[in-house]
Amino acid sequence: MINTTSTATTEGSVVAVLGASGKTGQAVTAALVSRGLGVRGLGRADLAAPGGLRAALSGCAALYLLAPNMHPDEVGYTGGALEAASAAGVTKVVYHSVATPFAPSMPHHLAKAHSEDLVRRSGLDWTILQPGAYLQNFLPALRAEPPALTVPYAVDLPFGFADLADVGAMAAEILAAPDGHSGATYEVAGPALATVRDVASAAGRVLGREVECRRTDAGEWASGPGATLPARERDWLLRMFDHYDHYGLPVGGRGVRAVLGRDPLPLDDILRRDL
Ligand SMILES: NC(=O)c1ccc[n+]([C@@H]2O[C@H](COP(=O)([O-])OP(=O)(O)OC[C@H]3O[C@@H](n4cnc5c(N)ncnc54)[C@H](OP(=O)(O)O)[C@@H]3O)[C@@H](O)[C@H]2O)c1
Repeated sequence: MINTTSTATTEGSVVAVLGASGKTGQAVTAALVSRGLGVRGLGRADLAAPGGLRAALSGCAALYLLAPNMHPDEVGYTGGALEAASAAGVTKVVYHSVATPFAPSMPHHLAKAHSEDLVRRSGLDWTILQPGAYLQNFLPALRAEPPALTVPYAVDLPFGFADLADVGAMAAEILAAPDGHSGATYEVAGPALATVRDVASAAGRVLGREVECRRTDAGEWASGPGATLPARERDWLLRMFDHYDHYGLPVGGRGVRAVLGRDPLPLDDILRRDL
């Protein structure tokens, strides 16, 4: 358990972040702290002992609930966290879902559709965020030498890429000023649909050099970068790439304006900030 206490914190305003050490958890934690909320970062150690999560949530007013990436049983994980939150007296939960959760070809999306149902029937005061694929997923490849985007799916299909900074800012706004967000589900994405090729072009403008954009074969990915993954995770990712290869993952960006009162940043602005 990691306590990040800020000056304006009172015990009642502490927000627990489950999975705080990960990519999403860090973005959410940083945004909550900058809004003056106390954060209790929780991770695997808090889940290990029976009753561990309930004890770790004691005294927290709210829970930011995100499941580990590609968890084998996200529905069970979410259900357990909701039960622990209720038992610990937590009243508000923000569930970190995904855009297009009901996509039966992608097990990790479908698990989030089922988990959303648990959240909505939990009896807690809930809000759900549904981010598109994070634009930040591309940063390691864009920081490499030479910068290049090589993906095992179509590079000319539409996506609604989410800015992790918006995920954090929306979580903080909802948890710091919860009025009006009860029972709401918000998508998180950029101001316009974009392709992977658009991301490479934007990165090229920001970096002032050409950024190659290439679709690789899924089999090549599986025997290359994907080879070190456990078989189930590799299979689930291959199913996701196949979905992306046929449909992309289009997501609208109006949810950002609904919560933050401003539009999400365009690709160039995010990449200029992050690269
Ligand atoms: N990546 C995207 O583009 C995207 C888009 C939309 C939604 N999402 C969703 O966002 C969520 C978080 O993704 P992420 O990339 O931020 O995850 P991440 O970086 O992999 O972090 C996951 C967190 O969960 C913890 N964890 C890992 N395995 C665990 C286990 N078996 N039991 C308990 N805790 C465990 C990790 O702790 P340790 O430090 O101990 O490993 C870490 O704090 C996922 O549900 C994902 O589906 C991702």
